[in-house]
Amino acid sequence: IKLHVTNRDGSQVTLSAQEGASLMDALRDAAVEGIDAICGGVCSCATCHVHLSPEWFAKLPLTDENEQELLADSEHRTPTSRLSCQIPLTPDLDGLTLTVAEED
Ligand code: FES
Repeated sequence: IKLHVTNRDGSQVTLSAQEGASLMDALRDAAVEGIDAICGGVCSCATCHVHLSPEWFAKLPLTDENEQELLADSEHRTPTSRLSCQIPLTPDLDGLTLTVAEED
């Protein structure tokens, strides 16, 4: 599936990702700057923070309490913030559009 990513420096790339992994895995494997994923994807570090486009956020709302709490501590939280490790890549996410969050 294709992912449309805006990097921290404003540049845009389209990545090809495998289904089954998490969004964080795909971004990290593509060496996207700012996806440090220090905790390895267990929803405890918030260094995989992304801003989804509003259309995509509507399809992937923030529902997990742990994730909400971690994001609440981020200065760069926006209404469409998600932690990318908590988004499994499924075929219906083809075309997902996101921006990497700034560093906290
Ligand atoms: Fe640590 Fe997502 S990789 S919270």
